[in-house]
Amino acid sequence: MAFLPYKTKSIEKIRLLPKKERMDRMRRAGYNLFFLNSGDVYIDFLTDSGTGAMSQDQWAALMRGDESYAGSASFRHMQKAVRDILGFPYVIPCHQGRGAENVFNSSLVKNGMIVPGNAHFDTTRAHIEHNQGLPLDCTIAAAYDFRSRNPFKGNADLKKLERILQKYSGRVAYILLTVTCNQIGGQPVSLENIKNVSRLAKRFRTPLFFDIARFAENAFFIKMREKKYRKWPIAGIVREMMRYANGALMSAKKDAIMNIGGFIALRDKKLFQELGPRAILMEGFLNYGGMAGRDMEALAVGLGEGIDEEYLNHRIGQVKYLGEEMAKIGIPVLQPFGGHAAYIDAGRMLPHIPYNQFPGHALAVAAYIEGGIRGVEVGSLMEGRDPETHQNKKARQELLRLAIPRRVYAKEHLDYVIGVFREVWKKRKNIHGVRFIYEAPILRHFSSRFSIEAKPR
Ligand SMILES: Cc1ncc(COP(=O)(O)O)c(C=O)c1O
Repeated sequence: MAFLPYKTKSIEKIRLLPKKERMDRMRRAGYNLFFLNSGDVYIDFLTDSGTGAMSQDQWAALMRGDESYAGSASFRHMQKAVRDILGFPYVIPCHQGRGAENVFNSSLVKNGMIVPGNAHFDTTRAHIEHNQGLPLDCTIAAAYDFRSRNPFKGNADLKKLERILQKYSGRVAYILLTVTCNQIGGQPVSLENIKNVSRLAKRFRTPLFFDIARFAENAFFIKMREKKYRKWPIAGIVREMMRYANGALMSAKKDAIMNIGGFIALRDKKLFQELGPRAILMEGFLNYGGMAGRDMEALAVGLGEGIDEEYLNHRIGQVKYLGEEMAKIGIPVLQPFGGHAAYIDAGRMLPHIPYNQFPGHALAVAAYIEGGIRGVEVGSLMEGRDPETHQNKKARQELLRLAIPRRVYAKEHLDYVIGVFREVWKKRKNIHGVRFIYEAPILRHFSSRFSIEAKPR
């Protein structure tokens, strides 16, 4: 693994409950890991979102927070960081990524409009659908091919995208590229693909936006995997990526290493003026948008720390280490390894569990019971139901995502996780599927409850 470019200054105690108690906690949580108390979890790989460790510079910046309702200096500091690092002149702060999605999509997406791109994240898709739009997945086929080692599985399929732009001419709200692509394994998009998508977007006079929750990790992969950019600094690659976008939506809880926050960044003043009133209505006045001044201050610092190459090298190295060790056990993991998480192909690991008993979720339950590890399903459970037929949609892959929080866990923690999964692997045939006791109507993975047929031994 790459060398660790930071050391620990403050610690948080964690504990491992006895197995009997873990089984009890899981039952009481309705076999939904979102309902577990964090103190009952030993290693929390539920998400890398908002779970990172802030640096001493970010904590110091918090103290400089200007909490004025209007004209806050902290807003200007954040605006400057967005301008300097990403190159967008206009910024609308939002309380988190989905706040930005709400403001943005309620303005740009109207009844029956299409939003093509690579695989949209679940909240993004939900916001597009909520505004009666249709999100369309144009990711390359390799993204869903377990055997493929394509280094840029997040790329958009240009032919498919072109066909859609032609077919739905006049109805395409915008094109969205998510960098990296969370829904398909944290896989990156190449700069070559970004340029080609931008060319198509211009040809069809359609704006191109990025979901930049993990833009820095994407830039690191471009440096590592796209020969032309090997010698470029990460900051240069980031600027080059952003040059092709009309704007970007950011959940600052990822690559800005914040516990909360987000923004919309724009190139165009007219669109900024159009979105502004909605942002005030839904998030807050334009100088804070649902964020505290201190958080905007820390965001300005975090955005810079997120593109530090040594940090990125270690972070991406952690994901690779976890993935490689899992693969050595025989566990089917998505490769090449992505940016923020190791993804286990639970559909392959547990072929005896049908998709509508959610193998990824069943594996998540088993990992908690075996070792107090919390991961999350990315598969048919998250996919939800078809809005017209109300049938369970069958995801293209049934995954368990083990997302690594930024700057939080050390190699010892990863080794513990690998040991637990060695045991889970041995017991895999005894893992049973889950059924709904209560099914939540939207974003159901967050708040449904389940029964389990039989518990793993
Ligand atoms: C790619 C992507 N976009 C948007 C979001 C939504 O961001 P937030 O959780 O801050 O609302 C997420 C959250 O995980 C994400 O991964």
